[in-house]
Amino acid sequence: MNNLQFLKNKIETIANNYKEEATGGFITGDGPIPCDIMFVGEAPGKSEVESGKPFVGVAGKNFEKYLNSIGVERSNVRITNTCFFRPIKIKTSKNGKTTISNRPPKTSEINLFREILDEEISIVKPKIIITLGNVPLKRLTNFKAIGECHGTPVHSDDFSCTIFPMYHPSSLTYNQNDEFRKMYEEDWIKLKSVLKKTL
Ligand code: URA
Repeated sequence: MNNLQFLKNKIETIANNYKEEATGGFITGDGPIPCDIMFVGEAPGKSEVESGKPFVGVAGKNFEKYLNSIGVERSNVRITNTCFFRPIKIKTSKNGKTTISNRPPKTSEINLFREILDEEISIVKPKIIITLGNVPLKRLTNFKAIGECHGTPVHSDDFSCTIFPMYHPSSLTYNQNDEFRKMYEEDWIKLKSVLKKTL
């Protein structure tokens, strides 16, 4: 069995055995191995589980647009997540209607996949990891919040590569103002120049 199949089997076992909270399917990372550039997101949503690939829903469309704007194709990067199953909450209203929505992964859920993400990084051997949002940031660095470090590369001794913290693409949906968008776009331009120096 190759490394990827091994990781997929491990993810599947963890997802299937997890009974503490509601979850809605799982996915693996996507993209070439080895790969110089690796993006790490939070957790998959509905579209990702349906297609079996990370970042294909609304946030993914935004992500790909900005990725292309700095001259990088999705097919040339590895994209993965911190939590590999879809964390969901299920609500039933008084009239019996059930709604399912995404929720952030709990720390204990992130910890279920610690070894998986570490193993994926070790087989991908990236020169740079771009963390998308607070969840992968806190998992892979000692930073406490994306607001304090976005757009600035740091060296990671743990992963022997550069880590570049970015806001999550869905933050554009929550911060619909010109100032935030400008700052977000500047981080992509900074990433473009960091990639030039790093690769
Ligand atoms: N958001 C994430 O953090 N990861 C995905 O795969 C999709 C959306």
